[in-house]
Amino acid sequence: MIKRETIDAIVSACRIEEVVGDFVHLTKRGVNLIGLCPFHDEKTPSFNVSPARGIYKCFGCGEAGNAIRFVMQYEKCSYVEALRYLAKKYGITVEETERTPEAIRQMNEREALMAVSEFAASFFSDNLWKSTEGRNIGLSYFHERGFTNETITKFRLGYSLSNRTALLDKAVNEGYTADNLEKAGLVLPPRQGEDDRRYDRFYERVMFPIQNFSGRVIAFGGRTLRSGDKKIAKYVNSPETEIYHKSDTLYGIFQARNAIRKADKCLLVEGYADVISMHQAGIENVVASSGTSLTANQVRLIRKLTNNVTVVYDGDAAGIHAAERAVGMMLKEGLDIRIVTLPPEDDPDSFARSHSLQEIEEYIANGERDFLKFRIDRFLQQPDHDDPLKKAAFIRAVAEDLALIPDSITLSVFVRQSSEMLEVSEDVLLSAVNKIRVRRYVEEKQRQSAPAEQEAAEAAEALVPEPSREKPVPDTPAFLTIADVERALLFRLVNYGDRMLVLEQEGEEPRIMRLDEMVFNDLEQDQLELETPLYHKFYNMYKEAFLRQPETVLQQLQYSQDEEILQLYTDLQDMKPSFSPGWKKRKSYIHTIDDTHGGLLLDDIRNVLQNIRLLRLRKIREECVEALKNEKEGPMCDALIGNIQKINQMISVIESRLGVTYR
Ligand code: CTP
Ligand code: MN
Repeated sequence: MIKRETIDAIVSACRIEEVVGDFVHLTKRGVNLIGLCPFHDEKTPSFNVSPARGIYKCFGCGEAGNAIRFVMQYEKCSYVEALRYLAKKYGITVEETERTPEAIRQMNEREALMAVSEFAASFFSDNLWKSTEGRNIGLSYFHERGFTNETITKFRLGYSLSNRTALLDKAVNEGYTADNLEKAGLVLPPRQGEDDRRYDRFYERVMFPIQNFSGRVIAFGGRTLRSGDKKIAKYVNSPETEIYHKSDTLYGIFQARNAIRKADKCLLVEGYADVISMHQAGIENVVASSGTSLTANQVRLIRKLTNNVTVVYDGDAAGIHAAERAVGMMLKEGLDIRIVTLPPEDDPDSFARSHSLQEIEEYIANGERDFLKFRIDRFLQQPDHDDPLKKAAFIRAVAEDLALIPDSITLSVFVRQSSEMLEVSEDVLLSAVNKIRVRRYVEEKQRQSAPAEQEAAEAAEALVPEPSREKPVPDTPAFLTIADVERALLFRLVNYGDRMLVLEQEGEEPRIMRLDEMVFNDLEQDQLELETPLYHKFYNMYKEAFLRQPETVLQQLQYSQDEEILQLYTDLQDMKPSFSPGWKKRKSYIHTIDDTHGGLLLDDIRNVLQNIRLLRLRKIREECVEALKNEKEGPMCDALIGNIQKINQMISVIESRLGVTYR
């Protein structure tokens, strides 16, 4: 139990913005602060902190509370654990009773595993500093590597003794259970047939505790010092446990988090030694991916602190390759990525030890290049980069990367930059990127829909005859649907929207107008909107883009964040204009337009607009006919009949103009 006075002291010392600020990058917004919510995944901040009221609230997920609640939620820990954490943060001494074996048993499992891990970290550290074996072997190794005592303490480095039950014996003696030691990954599960004897996972290794974002020890990496012995793994790491998920963890994040926030930049290296040597050299905004390629959760951990990452990998080919692999995930999560390569003989560890702080900083500042420039430069340095096949393959690979970028402004900058460097047209590159995005979108959708559902949908579709669009059946009224015609209209907007038309009306000066503008005017006259929901949306987006800036309508659409729109846009570019028997004959219009006045084009677009009207009128007529069936007599009945006759007239006028006969 913690004394009431202690609790009061903690509560009054806490400042919400400081407590939250250790985990979330906060920026001022009026009297409050905002940041990205740590409790749900988001890209625009909706997490609010009010220093005056001492509370936080997320307008995205609704999570809210005071400083203690925040720690409990963030650390998934109990009230008491949260108080302990805050007390430590504010240097308040907590008067608490000894942790009796009873108390330890009562802790929940996560806490129990954290407690036993913490115990192990202290034990390994004690071994390193106090035992003869530890001092002779472990400590002297670290010193030889150039780690100072201060550095060793900062990273809580330790040593596991050669006695294969040293930790187990000591911990059990202190009241921790062998079960929990095993669940925390510190003790190996008993091997069958070996009378249940258990052994420590780590022995005779220097130990690197792995701490989570708030500094709690959750796992270990142990490095052997018998470097000559190939049979011994260089590193032994904790397995996945209840408290340690390798893919959610970055080595050094606890020691680096404030520096990352301050520098608004995170350096990413590969190994434990890299992180530690960089720190010792004075560069503290550095974390390690621990030799695996970066996961989405690791990237999100970084993104809580900054959007800027510089990958500092080894200068050799393997290092460069690893750096390029790390990039994909970061692009997808919207980070700004730079890459710097070290001299071929160096890794960050050796580089940091052989250069001064100023030299390192300068090397990074001068050497870092955004990932794309890095990749393209490297490609252009290859002697055979002019080989058309090589180049095409490379452009496709670049497009695959670009297609990961979620932000449209960033994307447009990169597309322009890479098209210049690679000497391909921006349009070609962008359309390749968009095709990839659409492909991924479709794949993603397919993955999401359960296979059973998909099968059922396919079976249902098989019962319905293929739309007759491809096999023209002349004079079939159902041949042309509203969706067909609306799509035809969009096709023309996308492919010919900026063509100039000459509009002549009797008794008036001819007017010159863009095709798309003419379409808008025409449909607005009758207050006609498109019916098919997706086409309606596309049409309106096109119109809005036009109203913003007619010259860049297509670019605006191409950078749309709406995957459906993007897919439609791509389809429309590829689509062949063939819709009806009449149009089939005339489709040569589209492909042979060379009259600058757009006479043929004008006929064609009028045709489409009339078809839209025609189908709309037919639909209204049908509705009237249906209504008439229920209204045998009376004024309503007469009105309906009148309407139908009027509509029939309008329809026949249009049909005669179109030269297409429908019933
Ligand atoms: N690693 C691992 N298991 C291995 C090898 C490597 O977990 N068997 C991880 C460790 O996090 C290591 C990182 O990959 O820190 C990079 O590996 P390496 O370059 O081999 O290790 P260093 O940290 O550079 O170790 P040292 O300099 O002491 O050889
Ligand atoms: Mn190394």
